[in-house]
Amino acid sequence: MAAVVEPLTMFIVVRKDLAKKLQWPTGSVMSQACHAATAILHITREDENTKEYLSDLDNMHKVVLETKNEGSLEKLAAILTEHQVPYKKWIEQPENIPTALATAPLRSRSPELYMKRSFVRLFRSNSIQYNTAKIMSTAATPEIDITQYNTVTEGKATILFPKKNEVFYNPVQQFNRDMSIAAIRTWSEIYNQEKAERIEKRLAKAKDEESIEKLQKSLDSVKTSNNFVILEALAASGLRSVRYAKEIPRLKQVVCNDIELDAMEAIKRNVKYNGLTEELVKPNHGDAMRVMYDCVGTDNKFDVIDLDPYGSAAPFVDGAVQAVAEGGLLCVTCTDLAILAGSMHPETCFGKYGGMPLKNMFPHEMALRLVLQMLQTSAGRYKRHIVPLASCSIDFYLRVFVRVYTSPKEVKKSASKMAIVYECSGCHAFSTQSLGKISVKDNGGEKHTPATGPSVNSLCENCNSTHHIGGPAWGDKIHDDEFVAKMLQHVKDNESSYGTAKRMIGMLSVIKEEIHVPFYWTLARLCGTLHCNSIPILDLFSAILNAGYQVSAAHAGKQSIKTDAPPPVVWDIMRAWVKKNPVVMNNIPENSPARTLLAKEPTITVDFTRHPKAVSESRSEHLVRYQVNPTANWGPKARAGQKRKTDEQVFE
Ligand SMILES: C[S@@+](CC[C@H](N)C(=O)[O-])C[C@H]1O[C@@H](n2cnc3c(N)ncnc32)[C@H](O)[C@@H]1O
Ligand SMILES: [Zn+2]
Repeated sequence: MAAVVEPLTMFIVVRKDLAKKLQWPTGSVMSQACHAATAILHITREDENTKEYLSDLDNMHKVVLETKNEGSLEKLAAILTEHQVPYKKWIEQPENIPTALATAPLRSRSPELYMKRSFVRLFRSNSIQYNTAKIMSTAATPEIDITQYNTVTEGKATILFPKKNEVFYNPVQQFNRDMSIAAIRTWSEIYNQEKAERIEKRLAKAKDEESIEKLQKSLDSVKTSNNFVILEALAASGLRSVRYAKEIPRLKQVVCNDIELDAMEAIKRNVKYNGLTEELVKPNHGDAMRVMYDCVGTDNKFDVIDLDPYGSAAPFVDGAVQAVAEGGLLCVTCTDLAILAGSMHPETCFGKYGGMPLKNMFPHEMALRLVLQMLQTSAGRYKRHIVPLASCSIDFYLRVFVRVYTSPKEVKKSASKMAIVYECSGCHAFSTQSLGKISVKDNGGEKHTPATGPSVNSLCENCNSTHHIGGPAWGDKIHDDEFVAKMLQHVKDNESSYGTAKRMIGMLSVIKEEIHVPFYWTLARLCGTLHCNSIPILDLFSAILNAGYQVSAAHAGKQSIKTDAPPPVVWDIMRAWVKKNPVVMNNIPENSPARTLLAKEPTITVDFTRHPKAVSESRSEHLVRYQVNPTANWGPKARAGQKRKTDEQVFE
């Protein structure tokens, strides 16, 4: 392994008593640090270290510390002089008092030791918290024998992985972590904005001075302070938490929990190695379920809960839907896609998720909808409901981002959001059947009744075959348009922050274009059923649009067609295609769906003229819409030191 080079670091020390005792405003205190830092960079501008430090402006390491008062600052200055550490002590005018000092960029950690001797602490103020203050040198600390580890850098985190344990790091999950950071950052802006708006409304109505002052204070805090807490319930090495701490602004704390002792050791080691405090990334050894249940009924709910287990998240969901704050974010991974997508043991899927999978044409979207159904079913027990923000089918796993709210009124609507799904066993035509129906009463109120159905005949109206029945599954929207658009814009604006930005932009663009109808056809199934030549997808999209229906691709399946055109219309279009591109009927077995389908004449006039909306933006911009280049490491990782479980196999 290459030797670890300590990064160049500047230490900036500010007097604590300026704000606390002398009541200097925040801006003036910050200016002291800025004056000292800029001055020492100017003074040492010809030094190689300073040149190097300034050559990579995006990765400057700074440690901001506080010291008690003038006396302790002077004492520190004397120690630095004694050890010939270049620094600038800032004397503020017209007060003519020393207020702060900053060292030149240095590779050595010795200044940190002098600081400790002078009882200097990481800077913490009630009103300002600098993220840079939490980031100390990533140099090897004396306690860590780094020869025992390999380092992996992902985003802003560098993690130590024991050389003897190769399964600990799964690079394929970088996309999951990148997407999660982008989702949490996007959500947190909305969350804070909503909080601020609520306070502003109260402020507008407030009459007495005392409440105005109180509300103004909390508004300032919502706008400026680090104010939300994440629970990473299943954290392994702590890589995700370290990235969250370094890459998500305004984060107050991430609780980094794991049940395994060796994971706990790794978390502590990685927090330290990344120069983070255990106040910011709090290692917690415990069973995720207990950690979440412990905060139920308290005011200490988590603003974000991240569940990223090996296999299914199902066992953790009941606790998570209760432990997340109002309007908070639940991020859920399930890697047991073989089960969820029905390629084996549908009965196991029902046991875990409370719904039957359908494996044929739209297994991955069905899997997403089963997970959302499970989340809502759990949440409903506690008068809570979910709002899906983005639901992603990725390689061999799923990742969903949902907000959770308390509202008995909304919970009542959940029956109407759940659907039984019928998929024809012959031609794969599909239909959903809501479980509930909402009608509006004379007084404007909502009336909930069982829905009427079923939505299909006992045999398929297109090919006379029987139906497979799946679900109940989530039948409502699986993405929030506004959220997806914001998240996509965020990634485009911060491309350099994400190692997998291209793929993120591709997937989010396809998701943004998805129309809100459940499930999709695939070109392979449509053409395979009829044994015909493949229809160019743009011809099919154009024919659907020309017939007056909507169409889009689905991110969960390649060559997929999401449309509100009913199955008889889709089959009419395919019949018209076969008329132009005849199939050899001799090759088609008697009683096959193809014969029944092709025996009927189209009932609509099909127009294949290229429609202007047939080519979507994501297609025309040649984005990475679907992952095409799996690496040697592709697939889920087994638990450290254990064999991979059967339901965690790579899904084909
Ligand atoms: C897939 S790994 C987590 C990976 C991590 N989130 C990341 O992004 O790097 C799952 C972790 O869950 C932990 N785990 C399993 N059951 C748990 C439980 N009941 N409570 C807490 N941790 C648990 C395992 O020890 C393992 O480290
Ligand atoms: Zn059929």
